[in-house]
Amino acid sequence: MTGSNAQRVAVYRHEHFNAAHRIHNPALSDADNVRIYGKCNNPNYHGHNYELTVRVCGSVDPQIGYVMDLGVLSATIKQYVLDRLDHKNLNLDVPEFADVNPTAENIAIVVHGLLRPHVPANLDLHVVLGETPRNIVQYPADIVHHA
Ligand code: NI
Repeated sequence: MTGSNAQRVAVYRHEHFNAAHRIHNPALSDADNVRIYGKCNNPNYHGHNYELTVRVCGSVDPQIGYVMDLGVLSATIKQYVLDRLDHKNLNLDVPEFADVNPTAENIAIVVHGLLRPHVPANLDLHVVLGETPRNIVQYPADIVHHA
């Protein structure tokens, strides 16, 4: 372990948003859509209270004492994620889901893509998304440390 890795710390910012979606794959039959997605295939959409946790990991800045200013991270999440997804119909209102099924997995991937350009490249970024209190996904799946 190098010196710069000795004091790597993960910091987390927790946010939430509400959104509607319909999970539907047009390549499958209606019967298969209902069988696979159940209530989430409801044609007239339904809502979730999404719990979003953003994890940023890196070395502690020796002068400032932060990995990243959590106020800056909060503002970044608000600008690039919450303002785009909160109180929206993901299928109809968010271009990223025009051709992407808005499952929790895919929402986590999209949220990561929205944030990645705005979090310093030397910091690792993970998105944890709870669609219900019991159903939680993380992207990327694996905790890979920078060299
Ligand atoms: Ni759903």
